[in-house]
Amino acid sequence: MTRFGHFDDEAREYVISRPNTPLPWINYLGSEEYFGIISNTAGGYSFYRDARLRRLTRYRYHNAPTDTGGRYLYLRDRATGDYWSPSWAPIRTDLDDYRCRHGLGYTVIGSRRDGIEAETLYFVPLGETLEIWRAGITNHREEDAALSLFSLVEFCLWDAWDDQTNYQRNLSTGEVEVVDGVVYHTTEYRERRNHFAYFACSEEVAGFDTQRETFLGGPYRGWDRPVVVERGRSDDSIAHGWAPIGSHQVELTLAPGETREVVFVLGYGENPPDSKFDPPGSGTIDKRRVAPVIEKYLRTNEVDDALGRLREHWSELLGRVRVSTPSEHTDRMVNVWNAYQCMVTFNLARSASYFDTGVGRGMGFRDSSQDLLGFVHMVPERARGRILDLAATQLSTGGAYHQYQPLTKRGNDAIGSGFNDDPLWLILAVAAYVKETGDRGILDEPVPYDNEQGSETPLYEHLRRALGYTLDRLGPHGLPLIGRADWNDCLNLNAFLEDPGESFQTAPQREGGVAESAFIAGQFALAAEELARLADLHGIPDDAEDDRAQRVRMIEAMRYHGWDGDWFRRAYDFFGDVVGSAENDEGQIWIEPQGMCVMGGIGLDDGRAGIALASVEQRLATPHGLVLLDPAFSRYHVELGEISSYPPGYKENGGVFSHTNPWIAIAETMVGNADRAFETYLRINPSAREELSDVHRCEPYVYAQMIAGKAAAKPGEAKNSWLTGSAAWNFVAITQWILGIRPEHDGLRIDPCLPSEWEGFEAVRSFRGATYRIDVRKPAGVTGRVSSLTVDGEEMDGNIVSPAPAGAVVAVEASVSGP
Ligand code: GLC
Ligand code: GLC
Repeated sequence: MTRFGHFDDEAREYVISRPNTPLPWINYLGSEEYFGIISNTAGGYSFYRDARLRRLTRYRYHNAPTDTGGRYLYLRDRATGDYWSPSWAPIRTDLDDYRCRHGLGYTVIGSRRDGIEAETLYFVPLGETLEIWRAGITNHREEDAALSLFSLVEFCLWDAWDDQTNYQRNLSTGEVEVVDGVVYHTTEYRERRNHFAYFACSEEVAGFDTQRETFLGGPYRGWDRPVVVERGRSDDSIAHGWAPIGSHQVELTLAPGETREVVFVLGYGENPPDSKFDPPGSGTIDKRRVAPVIEKYLRTNEVDDALGRLREHWSELLGRVRVSTPSEHTDRMVNVWNAYQCMVTFNLARSASYFDTGVGRGMGFRDSSQDLLGFVHMVPERARGRILDLAATQLSTGGAYHQYQPLTKRGNDAIGSGFNDDPLWLILAVAAYVKETGDRGILDEPVPYDNEQGSETPLYEHLRRALGYTLDRLGPHGLPLIGRADWNDCLNLNAFLEDPGESFQTAPQREGGVAESAFIAGQFALAAEELARLADLHGIPDDAEDDRAQRVRMIEAMRYHGWDGDWFRRAYDFFGDVVGSAENDEGQIWIEPQGMCVMGGIGLDDGRAGIALASVEQRLATPHGLVLLDPAFSRYHVELGEISSYPPGYKENGGVFSHTNPWIAIAETMVGNADRAFETYLRINPSAREELSDVHRCEPYVYAQMIAGKAAAKPGEAKNSWLTGSAAWNFVAITQWILGIRPEHDGLRIDPCLPSEWEGFEAVRSFRGATYRIDVRKPAGVTGRVSSLTVDGEEMDGNIVSPAPAGAVVAVEASVSGP
């Protein structure tokens, strides 16, 4: 049992108490346009809007030691020549009393060494395109301390991909300007770029550096031994090509007990193309726009105010769903960390994390549609914008680009289309948005196809085409054709790749197959019912009737061809052979159709849902969560694709793919298995795994995409934390299905399915502008459903609370009785 810190629930922080965590444990800065990742030892990087195309600073993903590149400070004792990094990295000398507090949109890293304490706060103020580092240095010695403080960032030459590949050019292009102690990074500003970065300091600087080799002392020294720090004197170097950096030197003499605050501001500036230079044509940056901003945030009172606003912002967002249950792991995830992670997935999609490099994936159509389920209650207006952006990349066939680029909002041709589950997620996202907000008007919103001007139709028509896309592509068993893959990107039934180096998701597909997906069938059953409800709301009952008829046909096809006896089958391959059946040698049972079919209502009327879920528990459950399939594939199956390329127990090949576990938790509530639903939720709850941090290795405050499964070399070891659909789905599973507070078109449903030992819980939920104070009571030792419901003291029929006027506070009391 090893922990590396603890939750401070009151402060809504995770406090890390030693720097050498099993992996860098990161946090995110920024929530609008300027973003950064920051590790517990100040590693990480920053970017403006697009992690690939507007990268401000460098980070080295493959480096040993890991987590190299960051927001670094160095302290040097002028009397002894001793120097260290107050955030441990990059020097990694021993520190007395290290701690890192990751909070909501900010991180504080503090330490003490030899009587000198340094604590640095990092955050991005709301509404600005800059980050602040506020370092407080305190002298706890009996005598004066004469110190030098050095700052350090290494600039990225903007396009992070090009920056790592195009050395023959890039080693000659780097440029800077230094004026009044402010370092401006101006690479390519002379020609087509209108943006630059700046790095400023609140103190009079004793010197600066902008050329990496000068700061380090040649090409054979690292960040842990910079010659400038070692000898205690900056060199005032001006970068010309090579690797531009920003570094300041500040001299401090502190009396015993004295604290000094030094503020650094790193930011992104942009000028209109016709007023880039001052004087015009000079080649010198026009600084008139950024000067006041820099000046403002170098003042500590402005820093305090900006931090206060950031805290209020997060309190407001997280205040929209608050729960108080008998489970501290539930409370802290729902009230703080899970909701926070959902906002991070809204902001970052799958772009920048310790595992996603920011140069690869754009915004996923499928991923972003699902992420929306977790953030729509916090930022409904921005969720609306996201839906319209996604829908505008849909194709007129109803299909969808698999990804789009955040900067251009265009579909990504390199990845293309043909993942046949993609369009259906849009229906689920829109349904969730309309249930949360009541804004049916979005269905009338004109949206183009493939961003083609003139092709606009109402959003409602996009959804119809999305459903139609599945119906236009049915295979011989009446089940949806899978295309490149479905939710499981690695089930590539038409790829047949024999040569290395080709991507399973983009390689040409073999023609003429009949590969079908039972997962999409389940997803269709869910989406068709959601669309039917939207059609009813939209006043087109004929459409609703059609959708329901198609749903019934799909469920029939699953009855004849999708049921294996003890669970739902997974697919039929290119040749029409079954995948995910007792008759297979490997990959007999897969988790996705068990979750999705039950969520789509399949098997609820005839007991198959319960049988499938019992099989999940029997075949897929491990102490670390439910694995994706069993047995894992032990060899490469060319007809199945990437899934079998992974070693057994990892990723889609039998890892605990966290995203799928909440589907099972939801399905368990639908059949009334309250204890198993909660157990499924709790097994992968990061806080509940905190004691296993040495095994789990990723952050104990956020979900990771994958935890190694039972067939792996290291079961329980997590990877790919932060940017995962597990965030949204776990939030939905616990708040809407286990606690059972579920937005519906006609109100807020109160349908808890609580573990037997609980005696109830309380919650406060904002919904369409009103506040609901919900108190659920249940006798211990039973499970069951709501038997009586009062709203402001009045007894109600059923379990739906109708929407109250905006601003109202509504008291809801629900009693659950045993079966
Ligand atoms: C990754 C992808 C997601 C996919 C999942 C399963 O998390 O981002 O789109 O559904 O893997 O393959
Ligand atoms: C790989 C991963 C999968 C992810 C996909 C994204 O296939 O295994 O999880 O969805 O890449 O392109």
